Amino acid sequence: MDDLRQLLRDVEVFAGELPVFDPLMAPDTPAELFTEWLLGALEAGVREPHAMTVSTAGADGNPTARTLILKGVGPDGWRFASDGGSVKARDLAQRPFAALTFYWSPLARQVRVRGPVVAADAEDSAADFLARSTGARAEALIGRQSQPLADLAQRDAAVKESLERLEDEPDLVAPGWTLHTVRPESVEFWQGDKERRHTRLVYVREVEGWRKQLLWP
Ligand SMILES: Cc1cc2nc3c(=O)[nH]c(=O)nc-3n(C[C@H](O)[C@H](O)[C@H](O)COP(=O)(O)O)c2cc1C
Repeated sequence: MDDLRQLLRDVEVFAGELPVFDPLMAPDTPAELFTEWLLGALEAGVREPHAMTVSTAGADGNPTARTLILKGVGPDGWRFASDGGSVKARDLAQRPFAALTFYWSPLARQVRVRGPVVAADAEDSAADFLARSTGARAEALIGRQSQPLADLAQRDAAVKESLERLEDEPDLVAPGWTLHTVRPESVEFWQGDKERRHTRLVYVREVEGWRKQLLWP
C-alpha cells in the first residue's frame, strides 16, 4: 500500500512540451475552441481523442460515468448515441442532463461540458445507427446493454445471430437507438502547466451568445 502511494507520487504529470493557451485569443464560441483543441489532439496523435466521459444521474440523484464516442459538435451542442435500454438512457429519461469530460493527456488539456440533453428524432437516430460499422450494429442490435450475461459463449452466439440478421436485412435499425445532444450551459477549457499555473477559461451561455470567464486554477 505504502509502495503504491509512493509510486503514484513519483508518476510524472504534464511531462514533455505543452501547448500554450492564450485565453485572450479564444474565439467567441466554445464549439470553435473545442474544434481547435480536438484537431490539435488528433494532430498530436492522441488515441481516441473523440472518447469522452459522459456523466449522468438517475432518479436517486447519484452519478454514473462511462466513456462514449463523440458523434459530432455544432452550434446546437455535443452529440453521442446510446442503446435505449442502457443505464445512461434510463438516467437521461429520468434526468435529461449530462456532463462530458475530455482529457487529452499529451497536451495536458481538459474540456468539461455541462447541459441539458435533447434526444434526436427517429430519422436522425436511425441515420447514426446505419453509419456504424457492421460489428457495432450487430452488437447494438442485441439490445441488452448492461444487463447480466451468463457467459461469454452466450455473447458470441448473440453477435453471430445479429450478424446473420444484418446480412439478410442490412437496413435494420436497433429499436431504441438514440442520438443525444448535450446543449451546453457551460464549457470549460483547462490547459495544464508544469509549474501548476494552469489556465482555465469557461464559456457561460447567456441570453445572447456566450460570456467568457477566467477561473482560478
Ligand atoms: C473508448 C470507449 C468508447 C466507447 N464508446 C461507446 C459508445 O459510443 N456507445 C456506447 O453505448 N458505449 C460505448 N462504450 C462503452 C461504455 O463505456 C459503457 O460500457 C456502455 O455504454 C454501458 O453504459 P451504461 O452504464 O450507460 O449502460 C465505450 C467504451 C470505451 C472505453
